[in-house]
Amino acid sequence: MKGVILAGGRGTRLYPLTKVTNKHLLPVGKEPMIFNPIKQLVSAGITDILIVTSTQHMGDVVNLLGSGKEFNCDFTYKVQEEAKGIAHALLLAENFANGEKIVVVLGDNISDTSIKHSVEIFKKQGHGARVLLKKVGDPERYGVVAIDEKKIIQIEEKPHHPKSDYAVIGYYMYDHKVFDIIRTVTPSVRGELEITSVNNIYVEDGELEYDIHPGNWTDAGTIESLRFASEMMLKVENQMFYISGRGEA
Ligand code: G1P
Repeated sequence: MKGVILAGGRGTRLYPLTKVTNKHLLPVGKEPMIFNPIKQLVSAGITDILIVTSTQHMGDVVNLLGSGKEFNCDFTYKVQEEAKGIAHALLLAENFANGEKIVVVLGDNISDTSIKHSVEIFKKQGHGARVLLKKVGDPERYGVVAIDEKKIIQIEEKPHHPKSDYAVIGYYMYDHKVFDIIRTVTPSVRGELEITSVNNIYVEDGELEYDIHPGNWTDAGTIESLRFASEMMLKVENQMFYISGRGEA
């Protein structure tokens, strides 16, 4: 299984912090933001990792991260020339994935707890996709599930009237079909290829499983959430090996 970290985008919600600096290089606790998604993958045993970022910031990202030796992993880098959404960025990972299953992490998603348990379950899941959910106080900001006891029925991106308090957070696991699925998706009203549209196709095919992520989690794409992420990570003593949580299926 391979890992993909999506670290592109313009980070406009953090202007002017992101005018010259890539969002994923801003500090979260004692480290640059992107260290957290890297450690997430490495803690789950995934060491072959593709990093996707913009042309403008690739130099800085490579200068910071290098080969991956420092993190006990191997980095491959790929440029996303236009910020056209998460699914658009993910399409760049097709050759890298080379038919293997992938774990995708959004570069601004921060957690103090490893996704290892869910990754282990996904390894045994024959096909399809697996997402992680977290109960949130402001579901309007996220992809939100409609759910019954067993299955996700539908996901809505930034709904005005959320059908639950459970957000689909930025850790996604896919089989090789994901790239063909992305090619069938059309841009949303915000002009992006949404990862939610991709996940909904897995839902329609009855192939989307989920776990509730057990630890603390936040995105860090706004001033408020960036501050929250920093406070959360400053409380973590062992910055390399996060608490390995057990997901609730
Ligand atoms: C993106 C996804 C959304 C998901 C969120 C998690 O939102 O589109 O479904 O819940 O990441 O951080 P965005 O950061 O583009 O607003």
